[in-house]
Amino acid sequence: MTQALCLPTVFLNGEYMPLENAKISPLDRGFIFGDGVYEVIPYYDGRGLRAREHLLRLQRSMDELYLTNPYAIDKWEATINELIARNGGGNVGVYIQVTRGVAKRDFPPPEGLTPTVFMMVNPLATPKPEIYAKGISVASLDDNRWLKCHVKSTALLGAVLLKHESSLLGADEAIMFRDGYLTESSASNIAAVKNGVILCPPMDNLILGGITYVLMMELARKAGMPMEVRRVSRKEVRAADELWILSSTKEVAPIVLLDGKPVGHGADAGKPGPMFKKMYELFQQYKRDLPPAARVARAAE
Ligand code: PDD
Repeated sequence: MTQALCLPTVFLNGEYMPLENAKISPLDRGFIFGDGVYEVIPYYDGRGLRAREHLLRLQRSMDELYLTNPYAIDKWEATINELIARNGGGNVGVYIQVTRGVAKRDFPPPEGLTPTVFMMVNPLATPKPEIYAKGISVASLDDNRWLKCHVKSTALLGAVLLKHESSLLGADEAIMFRDGYLTESSASNIAAVKNGVILCPPMDNLILGGITYVLMMELARKAGMPMEVRRVSRKEVRAADELWILSSTKEVAPIVLLDGKPVGHGADAGKPGPMFKKMYELFQQYKRDLPPAARVARAAE
């Protein structure tokens, strides 16, 4: 049996349709140049986790590409809600892609193109409880991506190859360093813990400013967990008590093996640490407290 790639109804350029009817020109600049941006937004039973922040980041990514946002934020939200409803709800990651549109192949972006807008929903592949209990492995790699990693661009070949190289090294994910300092993973942020302090690489152009990462920092601040936002050296990562990986699809998960060696020290070495367990609980509580979905609330009135 082949695994379904995604749920059946997608949104393309203003219309909802079965995936098999969604057709895009090979001259689309997203296909030819990777000239586009994207978002992945987690929704739990119709309740978006910081959906607005994701849409604001989509706007910032478009601004970086000199791309005009085809929709106002309310229209994005309404379209997402409709797409989720048409796919039966549940816990889903909403994938949004906006490209510059279709044009004769030429490097300079032509004026006045109509952007291509594509959306699909995929079951949220949030890690199973055993991942939280056991943790994941990472391999150190040099971050050789471009210098605009704060843009959520669909031009992801650097990340694709780094992820592939980490699996060739037998690890679940990559942990990347630039000039000897921690950046992030190929599709997630990374934080380290040392002596009870959460060490967070700054959200500059070298990493994507993750929505999950920002939420984690807020939760830590509210709970009084000590935190420092600063550059974190490779040496500090190697000596960390805990390492965490964060993204919309992974939430917050513990890294327990770094280049084949257990993360942490003493009895906790190679196991999810106490600070992770606290953050995991805070995150789950935040999810439980998400306001009800607008559509569900209306239906119940
Ligand atoms: N990736 N860093 C990179 C390079 C990412 O691609 C992502 C997200 C993150 C975490 O961002 P957020 O917490 O907003 O999901 C950090 C998504 C999930 C993806 O590409 O599928």
